[in-house]
Amino acid sequence: MQRHVRKAVFPVAGLGTRFLPATKAIPKEVLPLVDRPLIQYAIDEARAAGIDEFIFVTAKGKSALEDYFDSAPELERSLREKNKTDLLAALKPTEVPSGGIAYVRQQEALGLGHAVWCARRLIADEPFAVILPDDVIEADVPCLKQMVDAYAEVRGAVVAAMEVPRAATASYGVLDVASENGQLIRMKGMVEKPKPEAAPSTLAVIGRYILPPSVLETLGQMKRGAGGEVQLTDAIAEEMVEGRPVHGFRFRGRRFDCGSKAGYLQATVAYALSRPDLRDEFAEFLSHTIEMARAAE
Ligand code: G1P
Repeated sequence: MQRHVRKAVFPVAGLGTRFLPATKAIPKEVLPLVDRPLIQYAIDEARAAGIDEFIFVTAKGKSALEDYFDSAPELERSLREKNKTDLLAALKPTEVPSGGIAYVRQQEALGLGHAVWCARRLIADEPFAVILPDDVIEADVPCLKQMVDAYAEVRGAVVAAMEVPRAATASYGVLDVASENGQLIRMKGMVEKPKPEAAPSTLAVIGRYILPPSVLETLGQMKRGAGGEVQLTDAIAEEMVEGRPVHGFRFRGRRFDCGSKAGYLQATVAYALSRPDLRDEFAEFLSHTIEMARAAE
């Protein structure tokens, strides 16, 4: 099998109901952390891992995403005329070479596994990455790059993994661990959203995957699982049943669940504090605000 991972799938068909009413008219993937949309963080991470083909699985109401990665001749002309080179530079990461980005529609909301399956013809017969843009990971070495490096050492699927409190297992895919070797976890199973008492471990899957094309075939035959949806977790678990290796990977970095309001706010604060142009003023504002809140208690 080809080893180099060139393609990434971004499932972005979700309705984003947790951010209503904001997401009534805009996709949640274009909500900004400071000044960059969530999807930009995901694309940058894929690029840093050597990926140059981006496949979006979209749905109705997501056209803002296509516009975001399109050229903007009028805007660029106006910025050029005003000599705004810094703003022109800020637009650079939104440019994707022609043919580098493709969109497929998921016509029915049948789950993450079904969304990935919708991209099967574009992925064809090679290993591919999946990035869930809700999971934003701040790291010195971008998470997917860490995983691509790990993938070069092991065969089969690699999924990002992180310890979560046992009470939280019902929000995640959870690993059934066979053995551990440094950051790599050899798995013997994987369960989608188990209740805390039934969870085989407290190691949760985070939204980064490197998968062999056999997963796509499995997805095509998959019955609906947890929540009545076709689960990616179940198709990856099937890899192990077929005797193919699957590894969890303890990435280095800080993950924010930007699918939740609390996680989104935490990410906003963390990214604002990491920006030299905002840090000092923002940190002062935060400590002042906390002091005032304490004093009012
Ligand atoms: C999805 C996956 C789950 C994974 C999670 C990570 O769930 O199905 O296995 O642990 O992403 O964020 P969702 O959050 O879409 O319900």
